[in-house]
Amino acid sequence: MSSKTVLITGGTGLIGSHLSGALGLRGHDVKVLSRSSRFSVPEAIDKNVESRIEIIAGDIIDHEVLEELVNQADIIFYKAASVGAAGAVENAKEFVQSNLGATANLVDVLRSSKHHVKDIILGSSISVYGEGMYSCPKCGPVRPPLRYQLDTSVPELDWNPPCPQCQGHIIPTDTTEEAAPLGESTYAVTKKAQEELMIGTCRLLGINLSVFRYSTVLGAGQSWHNPFTRFLELALAGEAPVLHEDGRQSRDFTFVEDVVAANLAVMDKQLQGVNTFNVCSGVSTPLVDFATCIATEMAQALHTEPSFPTIDGKFTPGDVRHCHTDCAKIASLIGLKPQRSLDIGVAHLVEWFVRKKGPVRNC
Ligand SMILES: NC(=O)c1ccc[n+]([C@@H]2O[C@H](COP(=O)([O-])OP(=O)(O)OC[C@H]3O[C@@H](n4cnc5c(N)ncnc54)[C@H](O)[C@@H]3O)[C@@H](O)[C@H]2O)c1
Repeated sequence: MSSKTVLITGGTGLIGSHLSGALGLRGHDVKVLSRSSRFSVPEAIDKNVESRIEIIAGDIIDHEVLEELVNQADIIFYKAASVGAAGAVENAKEFVQSNLGATANLVDVLRSSKHHVKDIILGSSISVYGEGMYSCPKCGPVRPPLRYQLDTSVPELDWNPPCPQCQGHIIPTDTTEEAAPLGESTYAVTKKAQEELMIGTCRLLGINLSVFRYSTVLGAGQSWHNPFTRFLELALAGEAPVLHEDGRQSRDFTFVEDVVAANLAVMDKQLQGVNTFNVCSGVSTPLVDFATCIATEMAQALHTEPSFPTIDGKFTPGDVRHCHTDCAKIASLIGLKPQRSLDIGVAHLVEWFVRKKGPVRNC
């Protein structure tokens, strides 16, 4: 593919740093617009391609700055966002203003300026689904609403949401891109609205749009505010994480290398129109297994005994019980399957974390 001018908004963050490095290596000119003026993973940028990558410290909400960069770009990777459900609970106004104000500004710039952007890849989230798809032995496929009330004193409590039709026990099944977006958290609502704003604008202007609904992305450089970074901190300190519910609530963990590969593959494919993909591992991991894996890898790295998770049986209203996400669509379209297993991914994550925060060794 010939060299392109690529704009990555939020390009200094976890996904953006790794993507900037990979695009630089492919010979593209990379403009990174981000609130932060430094890559969170400087080592993701090969020294030989540094000259091709420029960071412009600023906010996408700044019309003038964004317009100048959009006018130079052939393709936009839109990765800037205030991230994380917990922060959005504490500060809904800031989250909505930041995420949607930024998207609205991009919409204005795309509509009003003379640019030649042909493709946009938007970083969305599987949080847009809410609880996702389930199967009921009596009623078949069902979509339960999020759980807001749960009597945790019930003996042998079924932590899964009940069937919305017969109230019986249901089990999670893979959630495909066709599932209606029923997420209700502030973060999910901003991601849904970002998708819709970008879909309408791209259809109107004839820009190709790929919407990537990421599951939980992990990797070197992940935010210190990421709740899963807390697991690493605890493991490093030899402390056990305390898990809510029965610890068997599950998440789909995918690693940043696979996410970058998906972005590059879709860029190469030059898809036409609007396409939405789950970008995930397709493997649902109970939190207790994930926390155990981190504790084990950390203990191996530090030559200590692991501190395994404990369970407190507490419930956070609105928390998604299971993330079972289907990745068949992106796998079949671009021939891409996640390469990084949980064990290998966690081992790399632990190695990075120990390097950044671990004990100083006297050699
Ligand atoms: N990491 C995950 O687990 C995950 C999961 C689902 C979706 N996503 C989505 O993927 C995208 C990238 O996530 P990440 O993990 O790399 O996040 P990150 O927090 O590591 O990086 C985001 C970057 O965007 C910047 N930013 C935020 N708002 C901005 C604005 N208005 N203008 C300029 N810069 C701004 C931040 O300073 C940060 O450098 C986000 O849109 C996020 O919602 C991430």
